Amino acid sequence: MYELSQETAQDWWEVEALYDLCFAPGREALSSYRLRDDVPAVAELSTIVRDPDVILAGAIRYWPVSIGAVTALLLGPIAVHPTRQGEGLGGALMRDSLARAADLGWERVMLVGDAPYYGKFGFKKLNDVAMPPPTNPDRVLGLALQTGAWDGISGVVKPSES
Ligand SMILES: CC(C)(COP(=O)(O)OP(=O)(O)OC[C@H]1O[C@@H](n2cnc3c(N)ncnc32)[C@H](O)[C@@H]1OP(=O)(O)O)[C@@H](O)C(=O)NCCC(=O)NCCS
Repeated sequence: MYELSQETAQDWWEVEALYDLCFAPGREALSSYRLRDDVPAVAELSTIVRDPDVILAGAIRYWPVSIGAVTALLLGPIAVHPTRQGEGLGGALMRDSLARAADLGWERVMLVGDAPYYGKFGFKKLNDVAMPPPTNPDRVLGLALQTGAWDGISGVVKPSES
């Protein structure tokens, strides 16, 4: 059985190694990483999944960001080890952490990613929200955790100041 749990400080470098394995070299040059510089991840939502031998199989992290006067969650990075992909672990990490985000009172989530994958979890293109360049606007997606939470929200995403 796989086990999901909250990421701890001891897990940090193991998760980094998993991300290095799963993403192209230079992942930290992406503009989304500038939103994470010097800002702590949302610890309650950063989740890992381990296999029965306690080997790390997948991880998801979240950061707070600001768009004008409102706060949103920036979902990601999410990755599942190449030998474990297609078993539903990515979906489990998404659903578990998004449910907890809603329980914790977060109103909206955004990410930069593939609409065909994230659409399965309800994410839709955010037409009026811009990531720092260079980001393909078609990959800027949002999910309202409370009804209408993205309505009327526009602007450039900035690092959280709180
Ligand atoms: C994306 C990722 C986290 C999904 O994890 P996973 O455990 O394989 O996901 P699941 O098993 O829950 O779902 C697999 C399904 O998603 C689909 N899928 C995976 N990546 C996809 C993508 N980029 N676009 C569309 N569909 C995708 C698979 O084809 C599969 O479809 P199926 O269920 O119809 O067979 C994993 O593939 C991964 O780590 N990829 C490399 C890192 C990455 O790209 N992260 C996302 C950054 S935006």
